Amino acid sequence: MRGREEVGASIDFAPLRRERTSSRAETPSSDCYPVRVAAPQAPVGNLLAISDLHISYAENRDIAAELEPESESDWLIIAGDVSEIVEDFEQILRLLAERFAKVIWVPGNHELWTHPQDAVQLRGEHRYRELVGICRRLGVLTPEDPYPLWTGEGGPAWIVPMFVGYDYSFYPPGARNKTEGLEIAYASGVVCSDEFLLHPDPHPSREDWCSARIAETERRLSELDDAYPTVLINHYPLVREPTDVLRYPEFAQWCGTQRTADWHRRFRASCVVYGHLHIPRITHHDGVPFHEVSLGYPREWRKHGHRHGLLRTVLPSGTTARLRRRRTAATTALAAGSARALRLTHHHPCGVAPAESALADRNAHSGAVLHALLHLRRDESPAASFTSFRWLPS
Ligand SMILES: [Fe+2]
Repeated sequence: MRGREEVGASIDFAPLRRERTSSRAETPSSDCYPVRVAAPQAPVGNLLAISDLHISYAENRDIAAELEPESESDWLIIAGDVSEIVEDFEQILRLLAERFAKVIWVPGNHELWTHPQDAVQLRGEHRYRELVGICRRLGVLTPEDPYPLWTGEGGPAWIVPMFVGYDYSFYPPGARNKTEGLEIAYASGVVCSDEFLLHPDPHPSREDWCSARIAETERRLSELDDAYPTVLINHYPLVREPTDVLRYPEFAQWCGTQRTADWHRRFRASCVVYGHLHIPRITHHDGVPFHEVSLGYPREWRKHGHRHGLLRTVLPSGTTARLRRRRTAATTALAAGSARALRLTHHHPCGVAPAESALADRNAHSGAVLHALLHLRRDESPAASFTSFRWLPS
């Protein structure tokens, strides 16, 4: 049996069973009991993600500047395309690094552009290293740092920021190689601006740069302790399937490489985080959730809204932003130690069990994780009573 200190919100159930002497009829309702609430553990936080902030757009800049953690332990993943302008990149990362417990960044193609309007005219590898240097001064983790171990909710898991580019191997329909793929793209008029702004120096080509990054990243991934799963973060999807829905299939060749197609299996991914496509959604590949976490351009998010919220919770998995808010509120209330009445609802495969049975089952479900479960009444302060409470299997 797990010790009670391992339960998410540190609620002491045992005294409840011992101290409840009144009959059920004497309680306010059949499933309401007085409880003693132990001091809660420090918040363990959530692993949140966003990408493609594109803060060159004023509306996006405003959104980025207002991103806030929900607990002091939240980590933020930024999966590339913050800005083409180095000064803007630094400004927004400094702001977010001051707010979140940890910020993790991987480069997108836009940061790697040598844009004519940017004061920094570095190219290729030198530009990337300049951005890494800025991140280091701000305390932001990059693909060049040791992979941290996430020990918050949903962990432990290795957090793996990667810089693995593309090599044109997501051929458009009708193409058998890069040359044919590019010919089709130029003929259709769909050509990524990378062809003009993303320089591979000192590598001979963008695909050579990609190949070097793959070799180095594979080596580091292979050396990780395989006792833990990974969260793989890259600007581009690691598998081709998410590009199947692109409006212009010619664009897929600038969206990744076939050489990472099995990485989520080989390297024990509990989830994959990426952007670039500006199609925020979750797909599953071999049972692994792939989170596309783009904000995207204003014309895009104005059209489809923020269907998954602005910040995606990637760990703990399956927890929506709404549930996270409830958990945060619940933790706050528990800290106040004022839970006068708790209504227990046990969601069990066999249906809703009586509260007492739920308590008895608590030990049987020692692997269960207490998730966000306490629904505070809107008109009450966090110090008021809870109205429901449930166990979810881990
Ligand atoms: Fe983008």
